[in-house]
Amino acid sequence: MSNHPFTRRRFLESSGQTAASLAAGAALAGSSRRLHAQTPPDPVVLALIGAGGRGSAHAMAMAQLPGVKFKYVCDIWKDRGAGLIGELAKVQPRPPRRISDMRVALDDPEVKAVVIATPEHWHALATVWACQAGKDVYVEKNPSNSIWEGRKMIEAARKYQRIVQVGFQNRSGPYAASARDYIASGKLGRIVHVKVYNMLDGSKWEPRPDGPPPEGLDWDAWLGPAPEVPYNPGRHLDWHPWWDYKGGTLADDASHQLDLARMVLGDPPHPGSALCLGGNHAFQSQREVPEFQSISFDYGDFTMTCESGNATGYMRKFPGEVRYGSQWPHWPTSATRIEIYGTRALMYLGRHGCGWQVAVEGGKVIDQDKGFFPDKWHQPNFIECVRTRNRPNADIEQAHHSACLVHLANSSYRVGRKQLMFDGATERFTNSEEANALLKPAYRKNYRIPDAV
Ligand SMILES: NC(=O)c1ccc[n+]([C@@H]2O[C@H](COP(=O)([O-])OP(=O)(O)OC[C@H]3O[C@@H](n4cnc5c(N)ncnc54)[C@H](O)[C@@H]3O)[C@@H](O)[C@H]2O)c1
Repeated sequence: MSNHPFTRRRFLESSGQTAASLAAGAALAGSSRRLHAQTPPDPVVLALIGAGGRGSAHAMAMAQLPGVKFKYVCDIWKDRGAGLIGELAKVQPRPPRRISDMRVALDDPEVKAVVIATPEHWHALATVWACQAGKDVYVEKNPSNSIWEGRKMIEAARKYQRIVQVGFQNRSGPYAASARDYIASGKLGRIVHVKVYNMLDGSKWEPRPDGPPPEGLDWDAWLGPAPEVPYNPGRHLDWHPWWDYKGGTLADDASHQLDLARMVLGDPPHPGSALCLGGNHAFQSQREVPEFQSISFDYGDFTMTCESGNATGYMRKFPGEVRYGSQWPHWPTSATRIEIYGTRALMYLGRHGCGWQVAVEGGKVIDQDKGFFPDKWHQPNFIECVRTRNRPNADIEQAHHSACLVHLANSSYRVGRKQLMFDGATERFTNSEEANALLKPAYRKNYRIPDAV
């Protein structure tokens, strides 16, 4: 992460989008503009909260949808957002206003919805505040940083009748729907086991000394609900391997595959137990979130495992030719694949536009559906739901269930790699008070989500 000014090139790099995907997005925006030529769509005024790589990519894409404009760009780091505002000014009538406190946008009656792309420890509180202020919400993954706060997000969405779409964009991919239908048709046979992979590359993690915050950064606001600690560049610029801010690559990347696996399996309810083993075995770092995790979930009539970490440099996320093109990946070295084992056949499934292939003995592929990176459906789905009040594709309820898999696994690891029994009805552990203590973090004063949202 850096505070370089926003540029189109950086937007492409940071969002992982290629020229092909942007061209496709522009074509989509163009065709929906033609469709709406006679009846202008209801205006949707948005505010962006968190103007980093992902938030900027969302703002640029959504601002090009008919009737959509950003009135505010909010970031607690002074340098963030200036370049984006210049780019937005080219695609909407007026440039958005830069603010550093999200509550300015939440107090503005003209703002219909917010896009939240901050680090994870802010997601739940910002969502609850937005719902209370009557705004719809697009909140990035992983939607929550604990099980309790995820439940509060659902309660706030329902109480204030708000649309809350989560950035689990695979749920809007046609390939995800076709995989779900294929499995439901019984062609794989009975599902006995699901393997979710998130085997990413990595290197030795080194602690960094505390120091003064960079100029223009409001460190207290960055911490928000998280415990007060002195400024540390290792926390600020690499917040992923810390329990207080994210929960590792399991929360960052595996959450996409766990969510996609749940969706194609018909969204099963919470598993009855979770066991997470692992450790800093690869580089012997002193990371509190381990370099590698191996997890088993018990769903009663099938099992699901997840292998996740930053330790296997020869594995690759799907490249652009797979996400945006017609190419299939080399499955065994694909870092972010899912394998669904039925009694008759095996489905390989890939996130972010990859698609799926079904194989039988000898590796013969008998069915397949190639995908395309799904933001181009997921972002318009949010805007459409803001207008129609329909439930969005990645509604907070199912997204919460997917996020809980991350929290269940991390809780198991944190209490000493014990199998935790989970009561899905109460969302509490039945065999560990130590794990129950992790359900709800101790928030700082002024940054607490109330029990009654
Ligand atoms: N769905 C996806 O495919 C996808 C891809 C990338 C990132 N993400 C998610 O998007 C989120 C942002 O990731 P990123 O890579 O853009 O990070 P980033 O560090 O580039 O940007 C985060 C920004 O949020 C700002 N911020 C922090 N606290 C804030 C607050 N209280 N109010 C306003 N701004 C605040 C930071 O200053 C920073 O500019 C993360 O949750 C990440 O997991 C999702």
